[in-house]
Amino acid sequence: MRLHLDTNQRKLATVAGLCLVLAGMFTAVSYSVTLYRLFCQVTGAGGYTARAASDTAAQSARVVTVAFSTNVAPGMPWRFAPVQSRVQVHLGQDTLVFFRAENLSDTAIVGHATFNVTPDRAGPYFKKIQCFCFTEERLGPHQSVEMPVDFFVDPRMAKDADASDVDHIELSYTFFPSRQPQGAADLARFADAKPSAAAGQKLFATVCSACHELDRNKVGPPLDGVVGREAGSVSGYPYSAALAHAHIVWNATTLNEWLTNPRGFIPGATMPLSVPDKLRRQDIIAYLETLKPRG
Ligand code: HEC
Repeated sequence: MRLHLDTNQRKLATVAGLCLVLAGMFTAVSYSVTLYRLFCQVTGAGGYTARAASDTAAQSARVVTVAFSTNVAPGMPWRFAPVQSRVQVHLGQDTLVFFRAENLSDTAIVGHATFNVTPDRAGPYFKKIQCFCFTEERLGPHQSVEMPVDFFVDPRMAKDADASDVDHIELSYTFFPSRQPQGAADLARFADAKPSAAAGQKLFATVCSACHELDRNKVGPPLDGVVGREAGSVSGYPYSAALAHAHIVWNATTLNEWLTNPRGFIPGATMPLSVPDKLRRQDIIAYLETLKPRG
């Protein structure tokens, strides 16, 4: 019994330590290179999408911090902020981050975002696959939306004598009122977006893999085949008593409640992270649904 408590206490200490690193949903997630490699091997993903037009062999162990900042042109009645202040990514890792925009006025407004990457010498290596900055964007009166930016840092940066030492990149966006509002895209499309397992996989890599591997214990239990599995049932993982005796099966509904508020859903459970945004939860659950039991 005492041994069990000790294990749990140690686990809690690790979790508490990790929380300092995580400090919220998307902030400063760090994870080990080994874990990342393993994740890539297991999923065969290598963090790339076809559109990244990059060589998977170029995947790099090098990690850089990408920090985000936002501005709005004077007089434009929008609130605009990054959802995560920074992420740590491997060179070549396809990464998904979010920005929240809200129109504070009574009329629809079309905006256009410009971006700036510093230091300048990192600019050519910062590759955006999907970005609201590609188009004129309309936001309805008092509407708010989370907009994705999908990017990777080109591994070739490590071979550029001028840029190889860069380990911190700052990406800043400024929204201006559009000069060509005709034909603008509607930002509401992000609010209506269908759940995407591909997006969920990228979120898993930056958010969940700090604590979860697919096929072995880390801080949390392995998540392969979690959909359809009874909660707290992986033998050899030291679950909290609350999760071990929860008597629920993980499916889209229970996972949604768990990720909304783990300790509200199962009081006494020890997972310290939640995913407040509904669309992000749906993406992650869509990804978990693709994971078959191993072995
Ligand atoms: C800071 C560490 C941490 C992070 C980050 C984290 N988890 Fe967890 N997770 C845990 C711990 C610890 C447990 C076990 C909780 C217990 O025993 O009460 C757990 C348990 C779970 C379980 C229950 C599994 C089972 O076998 O019953 C699921 C599902 C889960 N996590 C999903 C996720 C997802 C999805 C993410 C990313 C959005 C995530 N977790 C991020 C620490 C974490």
